[in-house]
Amino acid sequence: FFGGVTYTPPDAIFELTKTYNADPDIRKVNLGQGTYKDENGNPWILPAVQAAKEKIKEANHEYLPILGLGSFRTLATELVFGKASSAVQERRVASCQALSGTGALHVAGKMLYKALGRKTTVYITKPSWSNHRQVFESVGFPVQEFVYSSDSTNGVDMSSFLKTLKDAAPKSILVLHASAHNPTGWDPTPEQWKAIGVVVKERQLFPLFDAAYLGMTSGDYDKDAFAIRYFVEELSLEVGVCLSFAKSMGLYGERVGLCAFVSQTSTATEAVESALAQLIRVEISNPPAFGARIVAAVLADEEIRAEWARNLVTMSSRIAEMRWQLYEGLNQLGTPGDWKRITEQKGMFCILGLTPDQVLHLQKEHHIYMAESSRVSIAGLNWSNVKYVADCIDTTIRG
Ligand code: LMR
Repeated sequence: FFGGVTYTPPDAIFELTKTYNADPDIRKVNLGQGTYKDENGNPWILPAVQAAKEKIKEANHEYLPILGLGSFRTLATELVFGKASSAVQERRVASCQALSGTGALHVAGKMLYKALGRKTTVYITKPSWSNHRQVFESVGFPVQEFVYSSDSTNGVDMSSFLKTLKDAAPKSILVLHASAHNPTGWDPTPEQWKAIGVVVKERQLFPLFDAAYLGMTSGDYDKDAFAIRYFVEELSLEVGVCLSFAKSMGLYGERVGLCAFVSQTSTATEAVESALAQLIRVEISNPPAFGARIVAAVLADEEIRAEWARNLVTMSSRIAEMRWQLYEGLNQLGTPGDWKRITEQKGMFCILGLTPDQVLHLQKEHHIYMAESSRVSIAGLNWSNVKYVADCIDTTIRG
């Protein structure tokens, strides 16, 4: 039966974590997978999450409804769009709980396939998160990349971006990174988001926001949700949002996320939600409860929610601090290259601009792990290793 199955190479980013974990060298540094680490390089269980877990410890293990935990869906929807959002008030948001960001993207893809058909092109940025292309191709869509950023623009390449949107067929799907673009760390400015939104509207494109890093970028959830809210409230657009709580609450392994669609009418919303329920029933019957209960407990309790807001600031400011330390380290060494962008980019990631050979050299000789593209997860840096990393990048570049 399986003679025709060819070998599929393992996922590069998970493979990197595996190699890092197996490395016995005490100097090792993991700048690969985007997971937040504390000052000592350890996973961080957010104090807000600890408090929420206390609150839910009596919960039983019955099935959740097909669309997920009701309180989670309501609170997460209000979190993203804002409680006062017209879409929320007018019941124009259809939602279902999803298996974190990836599960949300997949169910969103399935929903859009139903709504728009298989000939619809999905546009993703170049570069983009390594999973985007295969998620949408697995649903059956053709996927096309467009140049997103370049060294010459020192940020988002708006002329490439807007040209792509103007040339795209109406009803094409545009995958947008709501904040903290993965992997480049370049986000559109508010003015650039407005320009993008106007053309999305003119061209009747469907914006699908991958919202994996809200709150982690600036430490302020509302600020990070600017683009989503601008599209919905100011431009009255229909949008999709794929939300993850992996990063923002450190709930990586709990796989808790939300897939939400804003429609123009509550009737359309009801239909979309009924279709989402069928998609979930077919795929996983009903979603896992633990993570959703934690998120709901954080968001429902004023004190725990305020603690979470502080935890977001702790994470985002530690990352910002490490960006400065890495920049200062390379600057002081006079390392050839343009490093200022390390401090200008946002979120967990930054592309250093090293060659694959240099990346491999850092791994083999210095036990510093990063993606082949030289994307680094800044969260893996701390006061104990940042100087070592800067020194090793310096010697590697100088050959
Ligand atoms: C990453 O980009 O490193 C993270 O989003 C983890 C993943 O699943 O790829």
